[in-house]
Amino acid sequence: MTPEASPAVQPAAAAPVFRRVYVWELPVRIYHWLNALCVLVLTVTGILIAHPPAFASVTEASFSYWFGINRFIHFATAYVFFFNFAFRIYWGFVGNQFSDWRNFLPLRSAQFRQAGAVLRVDVLQATNRPIDAVGHNSLAYFTYFLMFLVFLFQVISGFAMYASMSKSWFPQLFVWAVPLFGGDFALRQWHYMAMWFFIVFTIVHVYLVFYHDYVEGHGVMSSMVGGWKFVRPDMLKGNGRSWFPLSPRSPRSEQKSAPRRPS
Ligand code: HEM
Repeated sequence: MTPEASPAVQPAAAAPVFRRVYVWELPVRIYHWLNALCVLVLTVTGILIAHPPAFASVTEASFSYWFGINRFIHFATAYVFFFNFAFRIYWGFVGNQFSDWRNFLPLRSAQFRQAGAVLRVDVLQATNRPIDAVGHNSLAYFTYFLMFLVFLFQVISGFAMYASMSKSWFPQLFVWAVPLFGGDFALRQWHYMAMWFFIVFTIVHVYLVFYHDYVEGHGVMSSMVGGWKFVRPDMLKGNGRSWFPLSPRSPRSEQKSAPRRPS
């Protein structure tokens, strides 16, 4: 088959017209990649803390401080993770309509309907009708909300355990969590289980963003790098724009969404 005859090469008249929309602002992208890096470092150093390799006990003592360095990296990264997370919450109040905190809470029936539609496409594979969402889809927003709750738990439980080893005032803010979760040992188990939640989340998350990129063709993957997605103009109307399209912050992102002519 010649390239002209291939169904993948559409004649210009039939080609859908896409609009370039600035969805993820730079602070959201920096937050995302810094968060992913922190999760990676915290997971690797955390697993080493939970399961110290046996060679630690056979090394000459003067060379075996690596475990202390490993713990230091874990604790220092926890501070970066916490302040980055706190920044994203702040950005939910000042950023554009796609990063608005209200999107993350399923408060409207339309959000539940879209979540059901996403499940039919992603999990049940009962239909291949693409989901029309410019920001995250409704199910993704809700999943990220649940993950933010686990982030919060991880911060509280981590700093609560750290409080007994630190004189700094910040970890002391969380000491109340130790008796609440039944002591240091039980809290450590919860902290460890939450780490596995992040590992499973990351595997499913990376698969889904690639899958949606392929099925929908809106540039989901590159949007977390450059900020832009490519959507049909009708997706910018109504709920496709965001779950709260009448947000007073809408015009700011709209300014940046003007289509550019290819040079
Ligand atoms: C190589 C690994 C990763 C890739 C390729 C990736 C890719 C992406 C992409 C493309 C989006 C935007 C999806 C959309 O527009 O609907 C996104 C959003 C998100 N990702 Fe990841 N991700 C990765 C790792 C992680 C990790 C490790 C975490 C945390 C455990 C994470 C948490 C999130 C969150 C919370 C959002 C929503 C961002 C927001 O609205 O603030 N990602 N990711």
